Amino acid sequence: MTYAAITGWGKCLPPAVLSNADLATFLDTSDDWIRTRTGMRERRISHVPAIDMAAVASARALACAGLAAQDLDLIVYGSCSSDEQVPNSASGVQVRLGAHNAGAMDINTACTSFLYGLSAASAMVRAGVVRNALVIGVELISPYMDWDNRNVSVLFGDGAAAVVLQSSEDELGVLGEHLGCIAEARQTLRVRGMGCSYANQGVQYGDTLWDFDGQEIFRRAVKGMAQASEKALARCGIATEAIDLMVPHQANLRIIESVAKYAGVPMDKVFLTVERYGNMSAATVPVALVEALEAGRVTPGATILMPGFGGGLTVCSHVVRWGDRVTPLGTSAAELPPNERTALELVNAIRAQRGTRGASERGLMAPRFAEAETPPGFTANRG
Ligand code: UT7
Repeated sequence: MTYAAITGWGKCLPPAVLSNADLATFLDTSDDWIRTRTGMRERRISHVPAIDMAAVASARALACAGLAAQDLDLIVYGSCSSDEQVPNSASGVQVRLGAHNAGAMDINTACTSFLYGLSAASAMVRAGVVRNALVIGVELISPYMDWDNRNVSVLFGDGAAAVVLQSSEDELGVLGEHLGCIAEARQTLRVRGMGCSYANQGVQYGDTLWDFDGQEIFRRAVKGMAQASEKALARCGIATEAIDLMVPHQANLRIIESVAKYAGVPMDKVFLTVERYGNMSAATVPVALVEALEAGRVTPGATILMPGFGGGLTVCSHVVRWGDRVTPLGTSAAELPPNERTALELVNAIRAQRGTRGASERGLMAPRFAEAETPPGFTANRG
């Protein structure tokens, strides 16, 4: 049997830190509310495009694996915040790395994009389609955040991380996963203003409004991640007690605590980053994985559970077996260009460019095509 071992890992976090106090300078919110409701104290704001963060994280992951960029057969770019719709973003990382022998594809399942990408790439390695793959989770949310909407703007941050997968005869990498989608709840998280529905009809480019039902997402996320974890563990015949570490999607500390409780994993086995980075969507799980390795929390041969959820509402959970090596083979000199501005200055510059409220009043933030929940000829099956 062939498996897809994780042999390299790297992260890239932009240096500018946005604190809860910074948010309270322009929002009716407080450090106390954000900390007690979400567990977040600060998040990062990027001064560079997403591809730049992804390329630095990828160069670090390759160096960690001791693999040359030319040896990559596949690049998977997991994100819902691509710098451009066309060309795809994976090609942007490819050209920066010089990985000219690789195929390159983007995957967007919102916050689960890295985990879905991990499934796709692992399956291709296991099937023998490719031998060496790079899987990226990256998100640049700050430019399209609905900054004056306190329901969402306190929750998110920017960042990137990547892992290298290599074909192996040892039983390593993803041992079992469950992928699901609670599509009937897809309206609970929608970013208006991005995508073809809004193109060429008078919306100032980049203006966005977020539809967001936090409580409904919370409820479904907890149930969805707990059930996905149960199914993933059953698929590979591993008992919950055998999990050494849980590295979950980090959208809210209270969500993580509830998932751990339902899944039967004690909190001392859960690795947390939510306090320092907030929700980096697709970048959250891989950044946490990299930091767990750096902190010595991933031991040789460890079994790791990685549950996630995101817009769609996609849900998933992955059971991963680690190899013997928990330290990098090498390091990369890749760095982001220096940043001159504070996070608050970066955010206020974005806020100053927004014309969304006017666009909304003019009725321009409605999608071009009204969405039929059950199009003619289809029968809804909610069973
Ligand atoms: O990864 C996918 C995206 N992530 C998520 O979808 C996160 C899922 N949901 C959540 O994490 C939580 O539902 C939230 C953190 C978003 C909200 O927590 P909650 O405990 O569900 O609060 P709530 O929505 O019930 O709001 C409680 C109160 C409301 O005021 P009233 O109606 O009780 O007077 C809100 O208006 O808190 C108010 N509120 C705020 N107050 C200060 C909402 N946002 C804020 C804020 N600062 N930022």
